[in-house]
Amino acid sequence: MEELQQILDQALRQFAEISDEDELEQVKARFLGKEGSLTALLKGLGKLSAEQRPVAGARINQVKQGIEAALQQRREVLRKNRLASQLAEESLDVTLPGRGMGTGGLHPVTRTLQRIEQLFHSLGFASASGPEIESDFYNFTALNIPENHPARAMHDTFYIDPQHVLRTHTSPVQVRYMESNHPPLKIISSGRVYRYDSDATHSPMFHQVEGLWVDEEISFANLKGVVQDFLKRFFERDDLRVRFRPSFFPFTEPSAEMDMSWSGGWLEIGGCGMVHPNVLNHVDIDSEKYLGFAFGLGVERLAMLRYGVNDLRLFYESDLRFLKQFK
Ligand code: PHE
Repeated sequence: MEELQQILDQALRQFAEISDEDELEQVKARFLGKEGSLTALLKGLGKLSAEQRPVAGARINQVKQGIEAALQQRREVLRKNRLASQLAEESLDVTLPGRGMGTGGLHPVTRTLQRIEQLFHSLGFASASGPEIESDFYNFTALNIPENHPARAMHDTFYIDPQHVLRTHTSPVQVRYMESNHPPLKIISSGRVYRYDSDATHSPMFHQVEGLWVDEEISFANLKGVVQDFLKRFFERDDLRVRFRPSFFPFTEPSAEMDMSWSGGWLEIGGCGMVHPNVLNHVDIDSEKYLGFAFGLGVERLAMLRYGVNDLRLFYESDLRFLKQFK
């Protein structure tokens, strides 16, 4: 009887000390398993006298029930502990502040292009486009720059093969558009152009916006008016001054370079002129009846001036610290 009491005490103490569920089942075997201490006592019942046997048997059963009850209780406690710590671990604090979505923003050059397009659309210009891999014919020949003409040296051209180039300007779009449309024509065309050139103000890939207006009574005065009006609106500066400096382009006559007033000086922002009769004749537009002007603006230049960026290469280095400022 004493031993039984000891076994029960032992079991209760050991169960209470265990905090691992698997270990609890192992410890249970020490008492109730095949080799367990209580099982051993049960096996020994046969050696007792007929009077002692029922008393001892009943007591053993009591102890067994006591152990099982304690075991069950401990199991329950451990299971609840496990659930509680699992819940604590997996808990979500819905009151924490949000982390923010990190949404993207438009690239400053894209924003500038959109602004330019929007302004010209409001002046009645439609949009046209052409390929970036251009034939030598559209990029040069049809623009009155025949083979071996020295003007080709003005363009640092990337050749794909002897007949194809990465377009060096957006002017070939003029030709493509005039081939398939009849005057009056009033379009702009923006996009990438390529030249073998790279420094703080030149990138081998950059953007131009081409403008073309062909009608019966278009003059250089219209060109000046449109460009001036555009620039004033683009920079939101009424006092902005524009200067047209005589220049040369094979596809315009007369030709000029456009400068705008900027912090006390002049800054070149593009080329322009009256569409050369040879270009019109190429696309079967009667150059006796129609006149037109064309211009090409450097988009990165305008973006640099508008945003105060002093190195053009910043636009293409994909540095988020730079780009995030334009969000
Ligand atoms: N295509 C010329 C250039 O890239 C610019 C230009 C466009 C000049 C239209 C005259 C007319 O330098």
